[in-house]
Amino acid sequence: MEMRDDARLADEVEKFSHTADTLSLDTKERMRDVVAPKIKAAVAQREAMVAELTSQPVQAPASELAKADPRRVTITQVRNHPHTYAYLDAANNQLKLIGYTEHGRRHAALVGHIGANVLRRLKFSAREIELAEIAGLLHDIGNSINRNDHGQTGALLAKDILSSLDMPIDEIITIMGAIGNHEEERGHAVSTVAAALILADKSDVHRSRVQNSDPTTFDIHDRVNYAATKSFLRVDTEQRRVTLQLTIDTEMASVMDYFEIFLSRMVMCRRAAEFLGSRFGLSINDVSVL
Ligand SMILES: [Fe+2]
Ligand SMILES: [Fe+2]
Repeated sequence: MEMRDDARLADEVEKFSHTADTLSLDTKERMRDVVAPKIKAAVAQREAMVAELTSQPVQAPASELAKADPRRVTITQVRNHPHTYAYLDAANNQLKLIGYTEHGRRHAALVGHIGANVLRRLKFSAREIELAEIAGLLHDIGNSINRNDHGQTGALLAKDILSSLDMPIDEIITIMGAIGNHEEERGHAVSTVAAALILADKSDVHRSRVQNSDPTTFDIHDRVNYAATKSFLRVDTEQRRVTLQLTIDTEMASVMDYFEIFLSRMVMCRRAAEFLGSRFGLSINDVSVL
């Protein structure tokens, strides 16, 4: 398929995604032919990147780690707990069925990794870094019950996992509070771990998260995620600045589309960054917009 055809079809998706019935079967078929391989390629590319990134936990400096309690519950123990992936897989399957973007192992591991990295670069303690990685891994397991209030239900499911590993109650409460506060409808940065989770979760916008390969049924979330070909949360240690850098294919979604669904998330990120004594920035296609 020629690039020009590609852009024209993308334009058709934009125009007709709400009136898909008016499209001929042939047009729908051709749209799928363009979009499905692109999502597949993005998933493969990103899966390799996430596997590499998350194979090792984000390490605190060696001097900090030496002081850490050797009896602490580690990210590896939580990852290996039999309930962790059972909940995550069930959550993702349920959300996929009702048309949501990917919320499974990949999103969970990446969010944990990004959250831990934010705290490491902003020089928080070794234990806070590890708790952020654990909170990220578990933050969306409540979707195995229902999308609504999945922060609150997920916090309680996480409590079961962490209690069974004998995590001290104060750490369990920190993680429950972070998970219960990660949704933009009602969440607040109530701790360093919660703030890191908010920044990490809201920065995972990417084509590889679209699970629907039929562009004629794309909603605005699919369109914006499909349009995001790169996303990176850059942390400047000296300037204490956390910047979400996005590359958006404006053939597929406008910057306005992005703001329509992400404005409340960006406000939440700004507050989370402030909680960590830093500033939040957003750049789209190399232009600073916040
Ligand atoms: Fe969530
Ligand atoms: Fe999430």
